Amino acid sequence: MQVKIIASGRQFETYGNESLLDAGVRAGLSLGYGCNNGNCGECKANLIQGQVKKWQHHDYHLADNEILLCSYQACSDLVIETTEAHSVDDIPWQRIQTKVAKLDYIAHYLILYLRTPRSKALRFLAGQDVNLIFLGGGLQGQAIASCPCNGKQLQFHLDLNQNLPFKKLRRSEPVVVEGPMGHFVWEDDYRQSVILLAYKTGFARLKSIIEHLIALDYEQSVSLYWLAESKHDFYLNNYCRMWEDALDNFQFAKINSTDAELLNQIETILQQHHHLNMARLYLVIPKPLKTGCLELLSQYQITPEQIYLETI
Ligand code: FES
Repeated sequence: MQVKIIASGRQFETYGNESLLDAGVRAGLSLGYGCNNGNCGECKANLIQGQVKKWQHHDYHLADNEILLCSYQACSDLVIETTEAHSVDDIPWQRIQTKVAKLDYIAHYLILYLRTPRSKALRFLAGQDVNLIFLGGGLQGQAIASCPCNGKQLQFHLDLNQNLPFKKLRRSEPVVVEGPMGHFVWEDDYRQSVILLAYKTGFARLKSIIEHLIALDYEQSVSLYWLAESKHDFYLNNYCRMWEDALDNFQFAKINSTDAELLNQIETILQQHHHLNMARLYLVIPKPLKTGCLELLSQYQITPEQIYLETI
């Protein structure tokens, strides 16, 4: 079924036995929600046209024509009226007790998967970060590497050479997630090509953005450059190659570079793009290079509005 949202005019499809909320979030929309089980009312919407049926029981009191997106499913094409998050200010601060679901060790990196309780998903925008609180201490501002379209399964990339607040993590261990934070986010604009450039684990933020763009069926060209010192630092190289094979508009390059060579490498990348004035740039680079990188971008007439820059 096709679901159209007013006033934004955006549309998404629902398949089989899924709630309107699950379908909308999977399609990359930042719909408002909280409990996901019919209690909080934060996913309330007005049904303007079409038929729905209850998908799960709820006790929340609704007026005529009101529905809960988490508790209803479509029986026909629909028109609904609801709000969507357009900026970081539209997303509430959350604190969720999660559990370690999976640990993948690749070279000296850990891909950490956290699972939220069934009735609670983390709302965030692609590119944001959270605080992680483990039994032995915390990690501030850790980038979420997964797509906002699945707020129940969160992914993080940790460098095991850095000082981590645990010796060994085990499956099912509790981890509190607090957030989200940060303005390095995807903002809807369907007219621009996108250049994504990350150093080492800065890739995590970009992975979240790319997966969000895939959920949105983004049609403009997307170029990903992953820079790092050694081949072991490209810990998800195969994943990037898979995107390149599967997506028509996606290009990927991994580039060996030390910190000292990074600005030269960025300049070489800029020279390969002919319409920089039409592009949006997302860069995650070492902190000491921030000023030099901004100067370089301004030499190429890239305006501050085109630049999203985060440091690691
Ligand atoms: S998300 Fe709480 S009622 Fe739907």
